Amino acid sequence: MSNRNRIEYLHQLREQAQLGGGEERIRRQHQKGKYTARERLALLLDKGSFRELDPFVVHRCHDFGMEKNRPLGDGVVTGYGTINGRLVYVFSQDFTVFGGSLSGAHAEKICKIMDMAMKNGAPIIGLNDSGGARIQEGVVSLGGYAEIFLRNTLASGVVPQVSVIMGPCAGGAVYSPAITDFIIMVQGTSHMFVTGPDVVKTVTHEEVTFDELGGAYTHASKSGVAHFVADTEEDAMFLAQQLLSYLPQNNLEDPPYEPTTDDPLRQDPELDTIVPDHPNKPYDMREVIRRVVDDGRFLEVHRHYAQNILVGFARLGGRSVGVVAQQPAVLAGVLDIDASIKGGRFVRFCDAFNIPIITFEDVPGFLPGVAQEHGGIIRNGAKLLYAYCEATVPKITVITRKAYGGAYCVMNSKHIRGDLVLAWPTAEIAVMGPEGAVNIIYRRQLAQAADPEAERARLVAEYREKFANPYVAASYGYVDDVIEPHETRPRLINALEMLRNKRDTNPFKKHGNIPL
Ligand code: HXC
Repeated sequence: MSNRNRIEYLHQLREQAQLGGGEERIRRQHQKGKYTARERLALLLDKGSFRELDPFVVHRCHDFGMEKNRPLGDGVVTGYGTINGRLVYVFSQDFTVFGGSLSGAHAEKICKIMDMAMKNGAPIIGLNDSGGARIQEGVVSLGGYAEIFLRNTLASGVVPQVSVIMGPCAGGAVYSPAITDFIIMVQGTSHMFVTGPDVVKTVTHEEVTFDELGGAYTHASKSGVAHFVADTEEDAMFLAQQLLSYLPQNNLEDPPYEPTTDDPLRQDPELDTIVPDHPNKPYDMREVIRRVVDDGRFLEVHRHYAQNILVGFARLGGRSVGVVAQQPAVLAGVLDIDASIKGGRFVRFCDAFNIPIITFEDVPGFLPGVAQEHGGIIRNGAKLLYAYCEATVPKITVITRKAYGGAYCVMNSKHIRGDLVLAWPTAEIAVMGPEGAVNIIYRRQLAQAADPEAERARLVAEYREKFANPYVAASYGYVDDVIEPHETRPRLINALEMLRNKRDTNPFKKHGNIPL
C-alpha cells in the first residue's frame, strides 16, 4: 500500500468510527430525543477542543457471532478536551453500539482516561447511556466494571468526578456514578435502578413505571441519588459546565477566581427585616443567600431533596464557596436524617477540594419522633457532625436566628473548629426553645401556679429575654461578633480574605471511621 493509500485508509477508518452503530441506529437515537455520544461531547466541550483516544479499539469477544461485528471504538468515545479553557477527561457511551453496553475493551478505554485524569490532575466527566454489562462477554464485563469502581474510589477526593446520566443505567453499573461526586440526570430519558420494573414486580409484586422507579425526579427528590435534574440534554451539559466553574481541577489546587462587578462592600438593607418578629414564622433562606453572594448566583445542589437544608456553590468576592444553610421555610429548618446526609456529603466534598464553607444557621434542633429515631437519626446526624469536625478548609458561620441544642454544636460552632462565628441580633442560642425549656425547668412551679398559662407565658418571656439572644454566647467568645444583617456580605468577604492562608490539619491516620 502506498503512503497516500495508507492515509486514505486512515480517513476511511475515521469515518467509520464516527458512525458508531450505523445510520439507522443513530436515527433511532435521535427519535428518542437523545443525542449521539459524539454530539454530546460537542455540546459539552469547547469548540474544537476534543481529542479522541482509542478510536481503533475493538472488542475481543469470539462467542455469539460477535467476531463478525467489531465496531471501531466499541461503544464508548473517550478522550480529553477543555471546558472554558480548562482541561477535562471525558467518556461518552455510544448507545448505537451494542446499546452502549460495557465490554472488557470498553472498560479499558474508560480506565485509561481515568488514570490519565488522576495523573494529570483534571476532572473526569462520564456521559452514561448504556444497557449495562455486555451480556456476550460475561465475567470479563463484570471485571471491567470492577476496574472502573476501583478507579472511581481512588480518584474520589483527588479530582472532581461528574456523571451525567443520559439513558439507561442499570444493575451494578449504577455504582460507578454513585461513587462519583455529582450525578446529573436528564428528565424523561434517563433511568437508574439496581433492578428494573419487571424484576421488582416478580420479587415484590409492586407495579411501578420506569420513571417512578428510577427517573430523574425520583432520584432527585426521593432517593437523593441525583444531585441535579436537567430538562434537556443541552441543559445537562450547561449544568456540568456551571458546576465545574466553581471547582478546582484537583485537590492540590484552589478553585478558580472569577472577577465580579458585584461590589465586595455592597450592603443589603433588606436583610435587616428578613427575619420575622415572631420566632416561629418562616422566611426563605434562599433569599438571604442570594442577597449576600456575588450577583445573586447560587448553584443549588440536591435542590429537590431534603429541602429543609440548602447546599450549593456560590462566589464571594470572586472566590468559590460552598454554602450550607437551614431553610426555615421547610420543616422549620429542622435537621433530620436526610438533611444530615445531604449536608454531610456536601461539607466533605468542599473540604476535599479546598472550597471554604459558609454556614447560615437557623435550626430548632434535630427532628424528634419514632420514625427518625428508628431510622437512625443518631447515626445519620453524626455524619454531618463528623463532616464539619474533620473539615480543615475556612469555615464561617452566620447565625440568623435559632441555634438550639445539639444542632448548635453541629452547625460549625467554634468548638468544632469554626473559624469565625457571626450572629445577627435576631440570633437565639440555647439548649432548647423557650417553651420546651420552661416546661422542664419550671415543671413544679407551673403545676402549683394559680394560673399556669399566665405563669408559663411570663416565664417564657423571661427565658427569652435572658437566653434567646446572641449575647450570652458572645460573652463566652463562642460568637465572635454580633453584626447587622445588612453588612453580612462585606463581613464574609473580609473574613474569607483573612482566612486565605489558613493552615489546619487532622492527626495522621489511614482514614477516619465516619458513621456510614
Ligand atoms: C449486549 C445489549 C445490551 C447488553 C442492549 N443491548 N443491552 N447488548 N449487552 N447488556 C443491545 C441490544 O441487543 C440492541 O442491539 C441494542 O443494544 C439496543 O437495545 P434495545 O433493546 O433495542 O434498545 P431499547 O429498546 O431502547 O432498550 C434499552 C434497554 C434494553 C432498556 C437498555 O436493551 C435492556 O433491557 N437491555 C438489557 C439491560 C440489562 O439487563 N443489562 C444487564 C444489567 S446487569 P441491536 O443489535 O438490536 O441494535 C449489569 C451488571 C453490571 O449491567 C454489574 C456490574 C458489577
